[in-house]
Amino acid sequence: MLRIGFVGWRGMVGSVLMERMFAEHDFGNYEPIFFTTSNVGGKGPDIGQEIPPLKDAYNIETLSEMDIIVTCQGGDFTKRVYPELQEEGWSGYWIDSASTLRMNDDSIIVLDPVNKSVIEAGLSSGIKTYVGGNCTVSLMLMALSGLFASGHIEWISSMTYQAASGAGAKNMIELVQQMSALADASKDLIDNPASSAIELDARITQKLRSPALPVAHFGAPLAASLIPWIDRPMDSGQTREEWKGYAETNKILQTEKPIPVDGLCVRIGAMRCHSQGFTIKLNKDLPLDEISSMLREAHEWVELVPNERAATIKDLTPAAVSGTLTVPVGRLRKMLMGPEYVAAFSCGDQLLWGAAEPIRRIMNIVINHLSD
Ligand code: HSE
Repeated sequence: MLRIGFVGWRGMVGSVLMERMFAEHDFGNYEPIFFTTSNVGGKGPDIGQEIPPLKDAYNIETLSEMDIIVTCQGGDFTKRVYPELQEEGWSGYWIDSASTLRMNDDSIIVLDPVNKSVIEAGLSSGIKTYVGGNCTVSLMLMALSGLFASGHIEWISSMTYQAASGAGAKNMIELVQQMSALADASKDLIDNPASSAIELDARITQKLRSPALPVAHFGAPLAASLIPWIDRPMDSGQTREEWKGYAETNKILQTEKPIPVDGLCVRIGAMRCHSQGFTIKLNKDLPLDEISSMLREAHEWVELVPNERAATIKDLTPAAVSGTLTVPVGRLRKMLMGPEYVAAFSCGDQLLWGAAEPIRRIMNIVINHLSD
């Protein structure tokens, strides 16, 4: 029986992964072993079956006994443990949600509804390291997969509206703390029908600039504001989040001629749903109905939203999409720049398709591969 080790199952991505695995009845036909970095011997998660006490996630010997290791523990763990396992000559499969190994030559970035053939070729050629992509990139590809596959995208600019969850669990809490502080500061004005929006705005702005607003994690107000910077700077003037758009898209798709992908990444006050506005330059003037069919037919999770107000505000928002696997694409139209320029907008749950779901699915793909 295969032995699969899970590390980092308690964190935010890990717990969404556990939830999804439970919902899809993914436990079974293999021996699940849960690891910990802090509670060796403790009790593992309730997965509806008996499991052994938690094992030490830094014990290379125990890890080496696994056929597959699935980790959502983060980059520091990967940096420390992965090379030690390789040195030991471990020949199992490493499945990772952290970015550390993404750009390695001997790793594949997984997003199987989009790059199943790349994954299958990797498995056949003996690649053992499978890494989840950056959430923004994965969600863009889930949304636009049909158009990418057509070969008609010359370049693409993505302007993002990224949720607090992408920065971490503590950031989600801080966002709501900021909202709550703003609500407290303005309560008397909201309750008084005679107060004006200008007065209210002055009160909110004062609170946003006050040292009392909690900003330890974001470093700035996000509620009632936004932060046009995500991750660290690169020499190109891009942020690392923006750099990943080009690097990861082309690695995921294994493009022969790299497709330029660039834009500005912005943090906004959504909880766990990343949105993106696209400018797409096509290499030919495709009619909108053809583009729509390509997008719609790409896979079962993409949903085309008509470019109408009612449908857009109902279906194309973080409020509508959060917690679901649906990736809606809408606001589809030709742009004034010319018939080869197309606008589109999409939303997607950053913790599902942006993180846990590709990991859950590659685990099952590897299990099937090993059972063939
Ligand atoms: N880096 C992303 C963000 C999330 O900050 O939103 C992880 O892919």
